[in-house]
Amino acid sequence: MSSHHPRQRDPELYIQVMENIDRAVFAVTRQSRITLFNAAAENLTAISERQALGRTLPELFAGHEGLLTLVRAALDEGRSFSDYENILLRRPIGLPLPVSASALPLFNHAGELNGAIVILRDLSRIRELEDAVRRSDQLAVAGVMAAGLAHEIKNPLGGIRGAAQLLDRELDDRDDLREYTQVMIREVSRISNLLAELMDLAAPRPLQLVPVHLNAILNDIVLLQREEHRSRGVEFILDVDPSLPLLLADEALISRLFLNLIKNGAEAIDKVGRVTTICRVDTNMHMLRPGSRSTPMVQIEIRDTGRGMSAEELEHIFTPFHTTKEQGTGLGLAVCQKIVDEHRGLIRIESVPGSGTSIIISLPLLR
Ligand SMILES: Nc1ncnc2c1ncn2[C@@H]1O[C@H](COP(=O)(O)OP(=O)(O)OP(=O)(O)O)[C@@H](O)[C@H]1O
Ligand SMILES: [Mg+2]
Repeated sequence: MSSHHPRQRDPELYIQVMENIDRAVFAVTRQSRITLFNAAAENLTAISERQALGRTLPELFAGHEGLLTLVRAALDEGRSFSDYENILLRRPIGLPLPVSASALPLFNHAGELNGAIVILRDLSRIRELEDAVRRSDQLAVAGVMAAGLAHEIKNPLGGIRGAAQLLDRELDDRDDLREYTQVMIREVSRISNLLAELMDLAAPRPLQLVPVHLNAILNDIVLLQREEHRSRGVEFILDVDPSLPLLLADEALISRLFLNLIKNGAEAIDKVGRVTTICRVDTNMHMLRPGSRSTPMVQIEIRDTGRGMSAEELEHIFTPFHTTKEQGTGLGLAVCQKIVDEHRGLIRIESVPGSGTSIIISLPLLR
């Protein structure tokens, strides 16, 4: 750290650091012309170094007023400016990316302001985690409300069902009237199913962790769904890794999770289409927990060629009771979120309106 000894600098090492660092770094002249553009910058912006070098910042980032203002301020005032919140990077390909940005003045050896350094950091992972937390909060509120309500409704509902069944028996020879009692019984049981689901959501029972054959569970669900949608042009494909190890999980909940998701996929298809379920050990992703070794994750993707959703729609789908279906409860995905949380997993969604949705679940392969 001492400034008395001139530092021995290895230029090659400087370059390697710049190329391996996980922040997008670029340098500009005082005229905003780009003179350095590292590998992470290429990845983040989807612009190549060759395209970037020599162009000016306003040319390359037209419309990104927030970013341009930061850099202009750093160049004008010779100080650093940052924005950790508001910058969305629009790219030639792919979705806009939330980033944090800093612009730092660049001084030469003589101490003169020579340009600026821009550092961008990909916030999409952090935003995803924040979204997950927000969803869990919503669930907690809905849960408390639901628990109270469900208790109040359950008993009178049982009374109505009993009375309707009695009436139904009394009307043995009156098929014209029994039509009505049948409706009563059917609708009451729909409400009790809804209540059961709500109470599940509200009153958490402890997970019953057992070694689970994920492939077998997925296979059963796909078979049943194929049967259920037999009359429609929905094709179900299952692509599993036969060497997948057993998963330590709550079997009933895991079945519910994937049934809900595969069902949603099939329901998103209007006439003909495909629901593909792919299950793999995810070699890229490991979960680190304090005090334990890193845990590999299993990744299950459910991809449909259905109607897809806009970014706006995606914001609401985990909200309890949000549904666009006549017979839907809007609890399916809220329940999925809870099950995945309880198993310390992650849900990611990619959707394109008019062409389909892909839901990717990552679960730790606890042993
Ligand atoms: N794969 C998908 N493709 C398109 N839209 C979807 C998909 N999955 C969910 N959605 C949308 O999200 C909404 C909420 O889904 P969720 O599973 O929570 O409830 P639901 O399917 O409407 O009701 P239920 O699950 O009780 O039958 C759906 O109504 C639908 O609009
Ligand atoms: Mg559903």
